[in-house]
Formats: sequence, structure tokens, C-alpha cells
Amino acid sequence: MAIPTPVPDDKFSFGLWTVAYPGRDPFGEPTRGTMDPVHALEKLAELGAYGVNFHDDDLIPFGSSDSERTAIIERWKKGLASTGLAVTTATTNLFSHPVFKDGGFTSNDRDVRRFAITKVMRNLDLAAELGATTYVCWGGREGAESGAAKDVQAALQRYKEAFDVLGEYVVDQGYDIRFAIEPKPNEPRGDILLPTIGHALAFIEMLERPESVGVNPEIGHEEMAGVNAAHGYAQAMWQGKLFHIDLNGQTGPRYDQDFRFGAGNARGAFWVVDTLLQGGYDGPIHFDFKTPRTEDEDGVWVAAAACMTNYLILREKSRAFRADPEVQEALEAARLPELAVPTLADGEGWRELRAEADPDVEALGARGAAFEQLDQLALEHLYGVR
Ligand code: GCO
Ligand code: MN
Ligand code: MN
Repeated sequence: MAIPTPVPDDKFSFGLWTVAYPGRDPFGEPTRGTMDPVHALEKLAELGAYGVNFHDDDLIPFGSSDSERTAIIERWKKGLASTGLAVTTATTNLFSHPVFKDGGFTSNDRDVRRFAITKVMRNLDLAAELGATTYVCWGGREGAESGAAKDVQAALQRYKEAFDVLGEYVVDQGYDIRFAIEPKPNEPRGDILLPTIGHALAFIEMLERPESVGVNPEIGHEEMAGVNAAHGYAQAMWQGKLFHIDLNGQTGPRYDQDFRFGAGNARGAFWVVDTLLQGGYDGPIHFDFKTPRTEDEDGVWVAAAACMTNYLILREKSRAFRADPEVQEALEAARLPELAVPTLADGEGWRELRAEADPDVEALGARGAAFEQLDQLALEHLYGVR
């Protein structure tokens, strides 16, 4: 298989903060310089990307004056026009400035909560102006390190209040924007509220406008929680809630590694791609990775290009896996078509079922599931021998 080349039709997008990450970590200073946002646009377009996503502060440094802000936005718009990149998504930084040390929407300090909502409204205006239709909300510091410091029920009520107010803002302004909540179990807080896809999906049902709020799951965050990321993506699609995705790499439950997509748990990455293709996800294929601080800027572009290459490789492998006649036989043997058949027949209810004689449970229990053969075929495709 030749190494595939990304094109804008593949709809790959990147957070501005991903390629601009200077390599600062809790133990060390940045190892790379500040990246000019327009330079990032040019390089991403050159590599074949389709779109970008940004936090307000990635583009407009916190505390900029109105005139500085206007000048930055004008220059950014010119960069977008000349590179042809789309702004698919935008988001708010509610975690870097010290004011957000106890979170934004759920800070115990009411003044901070009011400021956080205002900061989001201001950037929603810019998102709408630039044509973004998805607004990501990652609750960076919505959480706690200790027990009594956070009344979780009250905090969730405030979290809901923020989404309800912001939903009303979007409706009143006539913006074509939906929100996508990004779960994460911990880091930078000891524990973060809405730690997994499941928590976020349940929370959304408590909102005033659940239809305009979905999820933006990140592979690494689900793996940090020790759960199967592909299963989470599948459930989000089943509930019509997969509004956006953050693809990256992670090796199990440890710190948020944010590796380039396809690094870390490669088998998990294969199943995420297969799940997205099978489920018909058609939004941007968005990467949220951080190039390790060992690399210089050349390494950043190697990693960015690799996110797209690895997705295309896995897309090819998933398609080949699904098209393989032996796989189709194995799917049959593993009773996948049968799982798609409703347990009760048309017109049947519990009465008919209750009246039925028990099956030969010993024979049923002895029946093999034939899953190993199916999984081995998947691995052989992934390992490149089929
Ligand atoms: C992380 C998060 C963030 C968010 C981003 C969008 O790695 O902890 O993924 O990168 O996605 O800040 O708000
Ligand atoms: Mn992450
Ligand atoms: Mn993310």
C-alpha cells in the first residue's frame, strides 16, 4: 500500500493550539518558540488540511485591547482567505488565566462564573462571523482536588445554567452553532466534572435545549478513564450526539499524552476509524495532539502530517477489512447479522415470549461464538499481511 496523501476533501482539521504547542509541561519550560497563527494556517494548508479550530486566546492573547483584537482578526481572515482553510469549530479558553483556577462555569466564585459565560459569548460572536458551526466546550478546570471544596450537585446545576444561558444566546443571535462537550476524567484538575462520554450524554438530557448540545470525545481522554473509546463514539452516534471528534493517541490510563493520531494504542485507533466509518460520521476529522517537547518545528509538521497519514492508512485498512470475503464469512459465523435482528418478532410482546418453552440451554451454552477468528482477521489487516 502506497503512503496516502491527504486532500481537503478528506476534511482534516487541527486545533491551532496543537501545532502551536511550544512544549511547556509541568516540569519544564517551552522547547519551541511562539508560532504565528497565520504561519500555522499556511503550513496546514500546504499539508492538505481542510480546516482549523481555535480557542479565543490562541488567536487573540488574553487582555488584548479592542484595536489589537480587530487587527489580529483582520489578519487572520486574510490568512484564511489566502489558504482556503475553513474555520469548522471554535472554543474558549476557560483554564489558563489564574481567574479560572477553580473553573469557569462551575467556579465557587460567582463573579468568575459570570465572566466565564461572557467570555464564551464574545467568542461565539467571532465563531459565527468566521462560519464555525460547532462550538467545543472542554471543562478544563471544572472540577476539584478535594472533597468538601466542591458541592457537585450545585456545580452541575451551575454547569447546566451556563449551557442554558449560552443556548439562549445562540438562538437570540440567530447563530447556526451547536455545542459539543468534551469529556475528560482528570488533568489539570484532580477530578474533572463530566469525566466520560457517558457522563456528558446523561448531563445533556438535563439541559433546556438538549438537541443543540452533543459531545466532542477525545480518544486519549476515554483511554485515561480506562474505557473503550470506540464504544463511546458508537454510543454517541447511536444517540445522535457525535457532533465533533478529537482524534489523538494515548497509551492507557496515565497522564494526557496527546500523541499524534495513530501512535499509542494503534489497535484502539483502528477501531475508532472503523466505528466512525460504519456509523457514517461526516463531520470534520479533527486532531487534538501535542508534539512531544523533544521536537523542533520540523518535528511538529512531521507529527501533524502523520495524524492525517495514519487516519488515511486506517481508513484503507478498515475498508479492506470490511470488503474481505473471509471477514464477511467470519461476521456471519459470529452472528453479527443476527444481532441486528430485533429480539422480539413483529407483533410479538412479552406474553408470546413468556409462553414459549425454554430452549436447550446446555446446547446454547456449548455453542462457540467464533469471535477469535474475526478478531484475528482484523489484526492481520491491521498488521498489513492481508
Ligand atoms: C486536552 C484537551 C484540550 C481541549 C481543547 C479544546 O488535551 O486536555 O483536549 O486540548 O480539546 O482545549 O477546548
Ligand atoms: Mn487530551
Ligand atoms: Mn481535546
